[in-house]
Amino acid sequence: MIGIISAMHDELAELLCVLKNKETVVLGNREYYTGTLQTKKVVLVFSKWGKVAAAITTTQLISRFSPSEIIFTGVAGAMDSQLNIGDLVYGTSLVQHDMDASPLFPKLEIPLLGITYINTNSNKSLFESVTLFQQNYLKHININEANEFGIQSPKIVSGIIASGDEFVSDANSFNNIKNSIPNLQCVEMEGAAVAQVCYEYKIPFSIIRIISDKADHSAPVDFPIFTKKVASKYAKGILENYCS
Ligand code: ADE
Repeated sequence: MIGIISAMHDELAELLCVLKNKETVVLGNREYYTGTLQTKKVVLVFSKWGKVAAAITTTQLISRFSPSEIIFTGVAGAMDSQLNIGDLVYGTSLVQHDMDASPLFPKLEIPLLGITYINTNSNKSLFESVTLFQQNYLKHININEANEFGIQSPKIVSGIIASGDEFVSDANSFNNIKNSIPNLQCVEMEGAAVAQVCYEYKIPFSIIRIISDKADHSAPVDFPIFTKKVASKYAKGILENYCS
């Protein structure tokens, strides 16, 4: 069974529409939906927001459903100036930008694990599913919606994703994070927590983030509308490709 975690409830809604033989299990104030997506058995869940919430969601997912792998999808703020709204980041490693137990441990290092960056599973088939989606994105999202958000031939970038308990939207936070993590692509609020749980339980983990905003707030976006009209379709298109 593949565990699929979404950062937004609306993203899950599109996937739930195509989930066959759906059953719901309620655990710790979360709804886990099992069923079949295309040809694969999956369990879908909304992470909730922030690292603690995402860690709870992931730990319960692993303990109850023993997934063979976990894939996370959601939106993120761009930290690299080359990234535009609608581009895709395929995460290669995750870091908690607000982890700082110095002077006991180096800044950003996860205490007692002795690592700062957690690498994702290298998942060729998932990357191909993302590429297939990107090549045909207008089959999945409406051209008017693409135009509304200025999406024109979205690109895929592989790289580092940072997570922290902060919605990054001002230049000061943006610069602090950017200066402390070289080659950072994007920022969000859950991925590194999910990566740490998967690392400790030895579950292969992959993550795809869709750029919803520039994290210095130079390109404000209607977040709920973007998630509903765009990100949810990306998640559905990519994961249907992967599960077929
Ligand atoms: N998720 C989407 N955009 C974000 C941002 N700017 N900061 C944190 N999480 C995000």
